[in-house]
Amino acid sequence: MYRTHTCGELRLTDSGKTVRLSGWVQTVRDFGSMTFIDLRDRYGITQLVFSMETDAPLCEQARKLGREFVIQAEGLVRERSAKNLNRETGDIEIEVQSMQVLNASKVPPFTIEDDTDGGDDLRMKYRYLDLRRTPVQRNILFRSQLSLEVRKYLNEKRFVEVETPFLIKSTPEGARDFVVPSRMNPGQFYALPQSPQTFKQILMVAGYDRYFQIVKCFRDEDLRADRQPEFTQIDCEMAFVTREDILQTFEGLTRHLFRETLGLDLPEFPRMSYDDALRLYGSDKPDLRFDMAFTPLTDLAQGKGFGVFDSAELVVGINAQGQAGYTRKQIDELTEWVKRPQIGAKGLVYVRFGEDGALKSSVDKFFSETDLSAWADRMGAKPGDLMLILAGEEEKTRKQLSELRLEMGRRMGLMTPGDFKPLWVLDFPLLEWDEDTQRFYAMHHPFTSPKPDDIERMASNDRTMLKNLRADAYDLVINGVEIGGGSIRIHNRALQEKNFKLLGFTQEEAERQFGFLLGAFEYGAPPHGGIAFGFDRLCSVLNGQNSIRDFIAFPKNNMGRDMMIDAPSGNRRGSIGGVAA
Ligand code: AMO
Repeated sequence: MYRTHTCGELRLTDSGKTVRLSGWVQTVRDFGSMTFIDLRDRYGITQLVFSMETDAPLCEQARKLGREFVIQAEGLVRERSAKNLNRETGDIEIEVQSMQVLNASKVPPFTIEDDTDGGDDLRMKYRYLDLRRTPVQRNILFRSQLSLEVRKYLNEKRFVEVETPFLIKSTPEGARDFVVPSRMNPGQFYALPQSPQTFKQILMVAGYDRYFQIVKCFRDEDLRADRQPEFTQIDCEMAFVTREDILQTFEGLTRHLFRETLGLDLPEFPRMSYDDALRLYGSDKPDLRFDMAFTPLTDLAQGKGFGVFDSAELVVGINAQGQAGYTRKQIDELTEWVKRPQIGAKGLVYVRFGEDGALKSSVDKFFSETDLSAWADRMGAKPGDLMLILAGEEEKTRKQLSELRLEMGRRMGLMTPGDFKPLWVLDFPLLEWDEDTQRFYAMHHPFTSPKPDDIERMASNDRTMLKNLRADAYDLVINGVEIGGGSIRIHNRALQEKNFKLLGFTQEEAERQFGFLLGAFEYGAPPHGGIAFGFDRLCSVLNGQNSIRDFIAFPKNNMGRDMMIDAPSGNRRGSIGGVAA
């Protein structure tokens, strides 16, 4: 037997027991007559004591142990004289009577501590060491608990877990596919799924009614903190449902997960149309932990001789409450911030509403105090506030102001940790026009249904009319992160064909790529819809963190590389048992 207890288990009530523990050496502290070892496993840390007086050879042996050696120790549990209040086992220690080294360890390349000295690359290369660290371990255990709670809730709601294949053909979710050559069909390739979208719809046609899967998806796209080339979705689909049924069911799931993992009760989720989200926050995933909504100023700001405003499609501002104290230097720095290429604004106009009621702006030359006062009125600004205004082409300006709003939220400490603001964003456009390729793309994916009132207008040839088509699509946003997205689907062959046509597919292409789905729609496809949550993102948002990497046991780096196994690699013959094609 390797152990009678774990390293996180023993308490004062166990005093006097003879126990056996196994684990990793965290630290060795040698005080001459006594040596202390912190022994660690995933449950905690227990202090081992060796004394020269009782067993000199054993104590000598203990002194020589290195960090991360794996040992087994047997001894007596006793009360500690100096207790460690920060540790659950801090009341006791083990007076060791025998010890065995189960395995030695090289000196690890970074410290296995909460705050490690290892850089990103090193930690990725030695991921097994990084995974031993408490914060990383906590994340991985959290993920495991979260997936269990997902299964509990969905099982309760009579969802069936079905696995769908990984070796498939292209599913259009807007990214590039990862492809896998087929040995048995030379020159032909499988694509790894970007999502199980078409399969879950086929399962609805097959009558499974409520499906879910916690499933890997693969997308060859540029990586960011919240994007990995392989990531996990909680993928769901339901038949005979309206949008309302879906929103209720998955609001329920989200609430269940917050309650069970954080002990938090979320309120009803507000809903906002895509148009309003863009108009008010310049983003389809606004962070609602603070308001600072946009105020349009175009009509008030034009015609006073200020060229930048006069030539702009949109003049729009936000009011940073209580920030009139910003110095000239801080404003200059903020101006540089919006002018960085990542944001791309040409400049920033400010109006400072002094505590004394005086209005001071960077454009005083063009605008009287009465003008500025009208802006302040519209923005709801009060003495002590700072108004920040951008101008230019409409879409770009909204995006830039959205970034500035988030930055001000950060600077003003408005993104309170532990505060969660969920939001449903509804009624996305059906189509997105791409200037470069001069064609429409599906904003969500090609299987998304237009809103019933918009179906007729799909026959139009007018681009603006088509741009205005609305889809029965929705996103779940929490604290500015897109946690999930879904839609009511098309379940009728003719409508699906019409949609493919709008997306520039010829009939042959549509048939070649999606003939199986179009065919299935002819055999009694029920009305259906669904959603997929980004499981990794959900983990990170619940923990108030930005990077999903810390919640994935074996993530890829920003270049899509697995640093530990060194993949991808050029040599397919290198693997043990691998057969060269
Ligand atoms: P969508 O493409 O919106 O929808 O994806 C659903 C959710 O998956 C997460 N996500 C990602 N997470 C990490 N890394 C990535 N590269 C990545 N890409 C997406 C996001 C996103 O909201 N089949 C549809 C769903 C449906 O219609 O039911 C789909 O995949 O959190």
